[in-house]
Amino acid sequence: MTHHEVEKYKKPIRVLHWIHSGAFVLLFLTGLVLFIPGLGFLAEDSWTRLIHRIGAAIFIIIPIIYLIINPKSVGRGLKEAFTWGAEDMGWLIAAPRYYFLGDEKDMPPQGAMNTGQKLWWLIVIVFGVLFVITGAGMWFAKASAPAAALQWMVFVHDVAFIVTGAMFFVHIYTGVFHPLMTEAWSSITGGKISVEYAKKHHGKWYAEIPKARNKFSDRRY
Ligand code: HEM
Ligand code: HEM
Repeated sequence: MTHHEVEKYKKPIRVLHWIHSGAFVLLFLTGLVLFIPGLGFLAEDSWTRLIHRIGAAIFIIIPIIYLIINPKSVGRGLKEAFTWGAEDMGWLIAAPRYYFLGDEKDMPPQGAMNTGQKLWWLIVIVFGVLFVITGAGMWFAKASAPAAALQWMVFVHDVAFIVTGAMFFVHIYTGVFHPLMTEAWSSITGGKISVEYAKKHHGKWYAEIPKARNKFSDRRY
């Protein structure tokens, strides 16, 4: 790392991100086969259902392993997702002009995650839990649960699929293709961003880095 770079995502969180993303993509594609009636023929001999269950196991186990290895990071991440303030409202108001017109003047300084990233993170947590509860119900209680309860599980699983599926494409667009997010991709692959990018996109976080360093022997994330 040079003097002009700061570490944004540590290696364990990057590994978690990519394995978890792989599981999500598997679940999304095999879920799509079950969701769209015209694709039903692909699920006929049940191989997509098997892959869905393998994907689900990875989707559940990987964050649990991360939690065991690095509980402090999970605590900080959860706090971040559920702490919302006036600056987030300012971001939501300024975001359309920023993302569509490149007008940065009303964007408030952001923490380690900007409000949009926090929203995605919150959606991943809330709908991830709903996926697991309803998916486990469909998996293990298909024969024993009342029909109405099963219908609800399918309904909630489908709503989670639609919401996370739509936001997944927004996540990829903003993280990989948006012209202003020039260092987002390198941050989640190599871990680092330039000081200029940190100041511009995560000004509040950048200002707090020395404090965070003193507080924890390791860095955030
Ligand atoms: C497979 C395609 C994916 C790509 C190309 C991708 C790309 C990225 C990038 C570039 C970042 C860094 C953004 C930044 O810090 O500026 C990021 C962060 C993140 N990703 Fe992904 N991601 C993918 C899938 C996923 C999935 C499936 C999830 C959730 C299950 C996810 C959850 C997150 C979270 C919570 C963050 C941190 C907050 C944020 O930046 O939104 N990602 N990802
Ligand atoms: C994480 C834990 C998850 C578990 C345990 C789980 C489990 C299941 C099970 C058992 C089924 C019923 C399949 C069958 O009929 O054999 C199912 C269906 C489905 N899953 Fe998942 N799943 C999980 C996550 C996900 C995720 C992340 C997505 C998409 C992003 C997804 C999308 C779907 C869809 C669209 C269906 C079809 C529902 C319908 O019939 O309308 N699942 N899942």
